[in-house]
Amino acid sequence: MKVTVVGAGNYGSTTAHLLALSNRFDEIVMVDIVEGLPQGLALDMKQSRWVEGFDTDIVGTNDYEPTAGSDIVIVTAGKPRKPGMSRMDLLTDNAKIVGGIAEEVARTSPEAVVIVVSNPLDEMTALFQRVSGFPTERVIGQAGMLDSARFADKTAEKAGVSPTEVEAITLGSHGDTMVPVPSRVTVNGTPLREVLGQDDIDEIVKGTRGGGGEVVALLKTGSAYFAPSSAAVAMVNAIADDSGAMQPVCAWVDGEYGISGVYLGVPAKLGRGGIQEVVEIDLADEELTELRNAAEAVKEKQADINDLV
Ligand code: NAI
Ligand code: 2OP
Repeated sequence: MKVTVVGAGNYGSTTAHLLALSNRFDEIVMVDIVEGLPQGLALDMKQSRWVEGFDTDIVGTNDYEPTAGSDIVIVTAGKPRKPGMSRMDLLTDNAKIVGGIAEEVARTSPEAVVIVVSNPLDEMTALFQRVSGFPTERVIGQAGMLDSARFADKTAEKAGVSPTEVEAITLGSHGDTMVPVPSRVTVNGTPLREVLGQDDIDEIVKGTRGGGGEVVALLKTGSAYFAPSSAAVAMVNAIADDSGAMQPVCAWVDGEYGISGVYLGVPAKLGRGGIQEVVEIDLADEELTELRNAAEAVKEKQADINDLV
């Protein structure tokens, strides 16, 4: 199986290395516009093979011919946030970048399942699908796995347990209208509301919404990439395994939750063809209202991208 990672910056290179370390793919190709960057990173990663004991081939390139026929493509190219910026401030610059990449991927890997991570996430996922002309089930955005990981981590810290003992999910947008879903959170199987008080839960929800900004404010020169890369790799694995695993992802919503015609964070089953099914889970009334409000907000922004491509 061949996986291409477009953009060999922090997110792309970390993702490529994680995928390589798993030793389950035949070839990983990294593409970037900076001459020498993907080639140098590929060489460096390959030289970890003897130590780590994997034999995946890793290729770095500035053009798309070596990516041809990829099964899965992860789009990480684009500018990251700096302190004080919102993800939406990246819209115009990253739309040009992601639009160009969509044309190249459609030309060279027409059957690929694509995972978009470039920000603003919901808009870039919609834009990629529109420009590539790929069926909606084969273009998916990564945000929900990362936001859920942050939700779980903050819950675990507050409850004094390991994150592995927490189930958590966020829906909605990867932005201001993110919808952490406290009613679905459990700690060792016990509902969150029986474990923590409302003030603690409110603090966790707020911290989850601001989780990306928290890292940006500390790093100052860019945004998070370790947890984001793990999130993308979890999606790649579900697709590669054809596992049908349910994950929170940015998917095309067509009637589920009473929402239609928008890319939005929802739970979905993933397999070799991309999205197998958007899953409707039970939500508290206020959570469903928040999800529908998120859909309206994102729909407006996704309509704006028509002017950018
Ligand atoms: P970075 O600046 O480290 O890397 C971006 C790379 O994209 C650079 O190497 C740049 O040369 C390359 N690039 C620019 N235009 C390109 C093109 N046309 N083709 C190929 N490569 C191109 O940034 P980082 O940290 O890797 O973040 C990448 C993107 O991912 C940003 O937009 C960031 O906001 C987003 N992100 C999304 C997350 C999510 O959960 N969806 C989480 C973290 C970051
Ligand atoms: C994050 O949430 C910036 O979207 C990126 O870390």
